[in-house]
Amino acid sequence: MRIFLFCFSRISPWESDPYRIDSIQYTMYAIEARNVSKVYAWGVQALSGVDLAIEEGDFFALLGANGAGKTTFIGIMTSLVSKTNGTLKIFGHDIDTDFSEAKKQLGVVPQEFNFSIFERVIDIVVDQAGYYGIAKNVAEERAHHLLEELDLGDKKYVPSRTLSGGMKRRLMIARSLVHSPRMLILDEPTAGVDVELRRGMWHYLTRLNQKEGVTILLTTHYLEEVEQLCRNAAFIRGGKIVISDSVKNLLRYQQSIRYVIETDKLPEEIEGGKYEIKRLDDTTVEAILRRDETINSLVEFFSERGLVVKSIDTKENALEELFLRTNNTTA
Ligand SMILES: Nc1ncnc2c1ncn2[C@@H]1O[C@H](COP(=O)(O)OP(=O)(O)OP(=O)(O)O)[C@@H](O)[C@H]1O
Ligand SMILES: [Mg+2]
Repeated sequence: MRIFLFCFSRISPWESDPYRIDSIQYTMYAIEARNVSKVYAWGVQALSGVDLAIEEGDFFALLGANGAGKTTFIGIMTSLVSKTNGTLKIFGHDIDTDFSEAKKQLGVVPQEFNFSIFERVIDIVVDQAGYYGIAKNVAEERAHHLLEELDLGDKKYVPSRTLSGGMKRRLMIARSLVHSPRMLILDEPTAGVDVELRRGMWHYLTRLNQKEGVTILLTTHYLEEVEQLCRNAAFIRGGKIVISDSVKNLLRYQQSIRYVIETDKLPEEIEGGKYEIKRLDDTTVEAILRRDETINSLVEFFSERGLVVKSIDTKENALEELFLRTNNTTA
């Protein structure tokens, strides 16, 4: 398997010579996409020259508004969608020339449910293993284990149509893992999943990534999820990657933070001075702070006016601001 060095800018990994030797650190890439484009029938340009490199072992988020091209990109990785242009390698296997090896590396949880609603839960998982040439007894053992782990132990023998939405999603996770892939791709795995179940899924995916070393790529509209789970993320807009960086760095892009401040009482009119302040009710205001301003100075602002600050909460997620800015930028 080819191994090369990590020595290029994250936003456009192929701008410089990707095979240049700048460091002694060898990196295996789970995904190497270079100039990938897709034009659907009727001329819809869903992807325009996507360059993306995801390291083995990463927990990566692909973010973007509805219609940005996320599912199309996943479709190309899994060969459900044929690309119009570019190259794509999965753990070094080119999907054009080495498709069967490339495919084996991936487990996929699609955005839409795509199993037979009449089949029993256990059969859906076992049958999937058959596509990878796994012996039936091994497949059955793995299927039982995965279904137990995903809290579907008592649903193994029921037809899948009787599962709730959250259970169906967990069934698709079990099915995607039955051939022990090196990488798991999840297209909006927590859409429509309740808070408790979502936390359970986060816990499961984190363990899979950290303990078993499975590389994970997910798309999601819950940016809080990205902060909690992912090490790296890319924003896609209009079929192009517009930012790709570590989540830690992305959080630093935030220009202002919105706080909700509860005081003991508020005067009828409160003049915000240098702060943008909006009264919410008799005791609460919303204040916007620039990144270079401190919470201390905001608290001082209130105490100078004889007001006691009882609590301060941040109102929004840093990635949410970046998401909105990314989608509103004209490029
Ligand atoms: N089979 C198809 N035929 C024609 N156009 C398509 C097809 N599938 C997707 N598109 C178009 O390609 C663009 C990208 O769609 P895609 O489903 O990849 O977006 P997405 O980022 O996954 O969106 P969402 O967040 O809503 O799931 C959209 O303009 C969509 O209408
Ligand atoms: Mg989609």
